[in-house]
Amino acid sequence: MNKICDTIKNRQKPNDIIYTPNQVVDYHLSLVDINENNTYLDPCFGGGAYYNKLPNNKEWTEIEKGKDFFKVKKKYDWCIGNPPYSILDKWLKHTFKICSNFSYLIGIMNLTPRRMEMIEKEGFHINKISILKIPTWFQRSVIVVCNKVKKQQMILYKNMGNKCMFCGCPCGGMRGKNIKHCKRKASDKICKY
Ligand SMILES: C[S@@+](CC[C@H](N)C(=O)[O-])C[C@H]1O[C@@H](n2cnc3c(N)ncnc32)[C@H](O)[C@@H]1O
Repeated sequence: MNKICDTIKNRQKPNDIIYTPNQVVDYHLSLVDINENNTYLDPCFGGGAYYNKLPNNKEWTEIEKGKDFFKVKKKYDWCIGNPPYSILDKWLKHTFKICSNFSYLIGIMNLTPRRMEMIEKEGFHINKISILKIPTWFQRSVIVVCNKVKKQQMILYKNMGNKCMFCGCPCGGMRGKNIKHCKRKASDKICKY
């Protein structure tokens, strides 16, 4: 019975393997102070949307390629990416152990008050928050930039509204008429609009 529960707990849900469009990665990285001297880990490589855009001092993990994030012991200046939402608590707890800054793209409903408290209890502060709507993704997304600093800085808050990051058209629903302009399908694995 326990074995079955473990399998269910650790299974990859469909929402866990969703690749981030390039425009969104560009926007995400524009919120992070990328510095050639820092070390970076893309903990959930996927198709490399984040990894390919990070500077030289970088490594990656991806369970599908046999490299498990939870086995990482090395310390990094930054962890950056779009992690699997179904194991977000476990993901955050491991992130706290191996880096001094992190920035993740997560579903807005996944940024719960409990998780915000969890982040703060570990000595990190959310210093930037940006809300955006990615066409075909179920809920709005939020980018959080968190740093292990003694004092919280002034939070930078940016709401990108309902517009598509590519063409600027409204993209409210998942399949509504508003996203007819968008060639991207929910099942697409290639990171493009
Ligand atoms: C939401 S996808 C994002 C992929 C990619 N970062 C992107 O933004 O296009 C999450 C990725 O995390 C990977 N993943 C899940 N569990 C993992 C683990 N324990 N270690 C490393 N990667 C994992 C999944 O296989 C999936 O590719």
